[in-house]
Amino acid sequence: MNEIKLFCPASVANVSCGFDVLGFCLDRIGDEMVIRKTFKKGIQILKIDGQNLPLETMNNVAGVAGLALLKAHPVGFGFEIEINKGIKAGSGIGSSAASAAGAVFGINELLGRPFTRKELIQFAMKGEELASGVPHADNVAPVLLGGFTLVRSSKEPDVIGLPTPTQLYATVLHPKIELKTSDARAVLKKNILLEKAIEQWGNLAALVSALYTNDYGLIGRSLVDVVVEPHRSALIPGFHDLKEAAIQTGALGSGISGSGPSMFALSKGKETAVLVGEAMSKSFESYSIEFELHISKINPEGIHIISSK
Ligand code: HSE
Repeated sequence: MNEIKLFCPASVANVSCGFDVLGFCLDRIGDEMVIRKTFKKGIQILKIDGQNLPLETMNNVAGVAGLALLKAHPVGFGFEIEINKGIKAGSGIGSSAASAAGAVFGINELLGRPFTRKELIQFAMKGEELASGVPHADNVAPVLLGGFTLVRSSKEPDVIGLPTPTQLYATVLHPKIELKTSDARAVLKKNILLEKAIEQWGNLAALVSALYTNDYGLIGRSLVDVVVEPHRSALIPGFHDLKEAAIQTGALGSGISGSGPSMFALSKGKETAVLVGEAMSKSFESYSIEFELHISKINPEGIHIISSK
């Protein structure tokens, strides 16, 4: 195989109570990426359609993630990459993660799979480090593994794939303004109160349990973020109205997708997810900011191969 074309999906990180550790993969929203072998060693980013992003390998998340893989598995040839961005940078639905994960997944396939999908997480995280200053895995893990993922540790990445209740659907409203992850991280406090930590880890543990037991009520009760959301919500136009609209329409819960500005809601059943989307759209119309709406099942597969030759 000399060339591979991939679909690299968007993802929702944090999922309210799981800052930097929890995420899930979206379906059909994402980037396309072509990776091919070349005689020239290293990695060249040939073009990026749909977004104005750096082509220099060391300044590009796909470039640095791919180089991290090649450092661990040196070869006598190189790779060129073309990306068609369907996910906007700074949207909160894992734009950098899709590119970083896509690069390492594609290169790994072209090398005959020296690494497992889980092992690729450590390389993809290098792209996240370039994008946000911190090597977190809560977006790249669900993109590479599919479904919901929990990052027990990102130091020596230890990631657990979680089950998805079959009727769970996501609604994502993406206001078309850019919010850099690094800026959204800069508003966070370094210390939190013990009582807030207790509330947060209670909710996170309960949410994980609810995914195993298909307990939709418990999912709803657990989608609470008392640590990060209070600081970031001020950066999101319409945050309170969107959340209120989603909950009033029957969503199990709603919060900031990743570092925002996108907002997500989780619902039981597609019908409710669609109604929630209509209510969120109606609520956001008064802000005169263009937006996109996505209704998505939780993508169980993650990245997939479109074609290869
Ligand atoms: N966990 C990350 C954050 C996700 O919220 O900053 C965005 O990359």
